[in-house]
Amino acid sequence: MTETTMFPEGFLWGGATAANQVEGGYAEGGKGLSVQDVLPHGGIGSPRSRRPTPENLKLEAVDFYHRYAEDIALFARMGFKTYRFSIAWSRIFPRGDEAEPNEEGLAFYDRVLDELERHGIEPLVTISHYETPLHLAEAYDGWTSRELIGFYERYARVLLERYGSRVTYWLTFNEINSLLHAPFMSGGIDTPREELSEQALYQAMHHELVASARVTRMAREVAPAARIGCMVLSMPVYPLTPDPADALSVMQADHRNLVYGDVHVRGRYPGYFLRTLREEGIELEITEQDREDLTHTVDFVSFSYYMSVCESADPERREPGRGNILGGIPNPALEASEWGWQIDPVGLRLVLNQFWDRWQKPLFIVENGLGAKDELVEVDGVRTVLDDYRISYLRDHLLQVGEAIRDGVEVLGYTAWGCIDLVSASTAQLSKRYGFIYVDRDDDGGGTLERYPKKSFDWYAEVIRTNGASLTE
Ligand code: BG6
Repeated sequence: MTETTMFPEGFLWGGATAANQVEGGYAEGGKGLSVQDVLPHGGIGSPRSRRPTPENLKLEAVDFYHRYAEDIALFARMGFKTYRFSIAWSRIFPRGDEAEPNEEGLAFYDRVLDELERHGIEPLVTISHYETPLHLAEAYDGWTSRELIGFYERYARVLLERYGSRVTYWLTFNEINSLLHAPFMSGGIDTPREELSEQALYQAMHHELVASARVTRMAREVAPAARIGCMVLSMPVYPLTPDPADALSVMQADHRNLVYGDVHVRGRYPGYFLRTLREEGIELEITEQDREDLTHTVDFVSFSYYMSVCESADPERREPGRGNILGGIPNPALEASEWGWQIDPVGLRLVLNQFWDRWQKPLFIVENGLGAKDELVEVDGVRTVLDDYRISYLRDHLLQVGEAIRDGVEVLGYTAWGCIDLVSASTAQLSKRYGFIYVDRDDDGGGTLERYPKKSFDWYAEVIRTNGASLTE
């Protein structure tokens, strides 16, 4: 650590994307359909279509499938130390339950890794990012079925055997705690939400937790240098008033969110969760083997952070969440993005401290950023976006990461979400942009797909070059 920066040497600066949101090529290279290919309007509360429809922007997305070399070169120009991307399960196992993988799909990610290596960028791979093969949803009802554990293990084994010597950092499931809130997108559960029993949902959660632990154990044998992390959606919760009843609601909301990390780090279900199951009359099928599997715990905890919320014990004061996955009551002290996501940099420091105090595992911030509408303008003959609002969002959040590091929290790295513009997960829009790189594509699917560095591109490059020192200048 130097005098001028609070970020440790070797801090992994970079950006993050997911296959379904950037790749496109949805039917190329032998790829099968995934749940995303039938979610034209996004994953939260929107109906699925029967089959892919042209209005679904994810089918072409931003064409990373063909432009990965150009895009990775742009990441390298920013000085990325790491790039988080996901592997599309349905490129490797098009239906999900085949015995043999699709070589063309594997070869695509070989090429992506070649490109990263050429630029000295460390890969950070999400094994499953809201991309369950559609066949597994339709034939098995997704993760409600215990059989998914075996299919996922087979898929993960193929990845670990093929890429294990090239990839150190792996995440098992993106935002695993979103399963109960977005069952189709997150867990490939085809039964409509209103017909789904809590029993089936919690059982699906259990299957994912067991699958994650089994892959963690497998990695120790197949790829001993690999470091396996879980990935959770983090959301600090504040009491709406100082009433102890509101504070208790906060604790309960926290428990609903933290149970996933608790199991991944401690290797068993916590008492508060067992109480919930008892009180709701849910009896999970948990075998002796499951219990043993769960004891294989992760090396680090990664998480996304976008916003905080409030909680109240008074049902009248609860409001339906606006666009975010977990819901919650808006905080009167905070401003919100154009999509109603409340902006709270201090919340990131709180989450980092909470997770560190609770789990004592290295933390990795693998998503954070501002979804905003951008306008392409011409400055001195160069097309760009003057996104000072994004710079100020990111600066404020990174300064809080620095504060948490000063608090003693161990942070491995930071990957800004949607480092190149991509299709939104919740609304399937392209106009909700996060990137340092503008992609010329609009919500109607028009545009050239050309890439244009925004003002934030040079700003982030300087942050990385100075290992965070420029944040305080
Ligand atoms: C997280 C997901 O929930 O938030 C990403 O892991 C997603 O896939 C990101 O894109 C931002 O959400 P949205 O809805 O703005 O794309």
